[in-house]
Amino acid sequence: MSDETTQVEAAGDEFERDLASLGEVQLVDADPSKAEELLRILGELKVRHTGKKSAIAAAKKLIGKVAAEKRADFGQLVQTVENKIVSTIAETEAKLKDLVSKAKTESERLDVTIPGRRPRTGHLHPITIVRQRIEDIFVSMGYSIEDDREIETDYYNFDALNIPEGHPARESQDTFYTTEGFALRSQTSTVQIRAMERRGVPIRILAPGRVFRRDTPDMTHTPMFHQLEGLCVDKGITMAHLKGTVTEWLQRLFDKDTRTRFRPSYFPFTEPSAEFDFSCFVCHGSGKLDGERCRPCKGTGWIELGGSGMVHPNVLRACNIDPTVYSGFAFGFGLERMAALVYEIDDIRHMFENDMRFLQQFK
Ligand code: DAH
Repeated sequence: MSDETTQVEAAGDEFERDLASLGEVQLVDADPSKAEELLRILGELKVRHTGKKSAIAAAKKLIGKVAAEKRADFGQLVQTVENKIVSTIAETEAKLKDLVSKAKTESERLDVTIPGRRPRTGHLHPITIVRQRIEDIFVSMGYSIEDDREIETDYYNFDALNIPEGHPARESQDTFYTTEGFALRSQTSTVQIRAMERRGVPIRILAPGRVFRRDTPDMTHTPMFHQLEGLCVDKGITMAHLKGTVTEWLQRLFDKDTRTRFRPSYFPFTEPSAEFDFSCFVCHGSGKLDGERCRPCKGTGWIELGGSGMVHPNVLRACNIDPTVYSGFAFGFGLERMAALVYEIDDIRHMFENDMRFLQQFK
């Protein structure tokens, strides 16, 4: 066998070895993630075995140089080996490309039958729902909504509201203090002073907001809660206006048969002062529901709601308003209690725990 022939056959053998090093099994069942890497190696193999510098290319150049009588056979051999190499590479390449494209299709597959993911719509917190309903009623009666700061000085939280230092009313409204003489407001009554200073009189405002007290949380107390404060000051305002306004509001919120009741009380910033109750919106004042004791009013037929009274002359004076010319009424109550009544929530702490199972009930 001539040298040339050996050379060509060696080129064919070398290609077989190289191809085997890729791993025949691996090529067919290649992991799709590896197929791309194998394709790249195959590309190198193609250059090495069929490129300009390959053994086959060198052998082709020899065809013209071998002895004339051997030329045909030699040329045939070179052609056969080359065809084998080229077709094997083409087949392998096709297999790998098929794997790559299958992997791609798989990863981009879209199941149009899967149910869509609906965006979850938010909704209002029960306290917000109740607050907004009450705000709407008062706005329709000519009140404006007043928003004010939660961090206050002693002056606005106590002194200006006729609660001087040492007054026992400070005790029950103990709050959180800073070292710089500020405190978290313990009542929205502070807004009475701020609003009268800012707007003067006549004035009709409703001030909702957060208040703070040094209370240990239990079913009916949280150290942070919400109040709604009302204030109306004008010439000739009397207790009859207070009773009329509170009754109108509660009749619109519950139903028009709702009755109100005022019991004498004491607040430093009102004189006279009264606590107000309304007839139970569940049993309509009978105290009984289906022969049983009515729950919201505990069988009394009445629900206690808040405090009220005629604005104390000292409070008006603190805001530079002449109490001999102007008079007014004020009231305040807690929103959590109101929301708890309306939605029959037995523990107000639920309102601040952000448990979705609780919150989702108020859609
Ligand atoms: N600020 C009082 C409290 O936190 C509630 C209150 C009572 C407000 C009487 C008033 C009022 O405006 O006139 O307990």
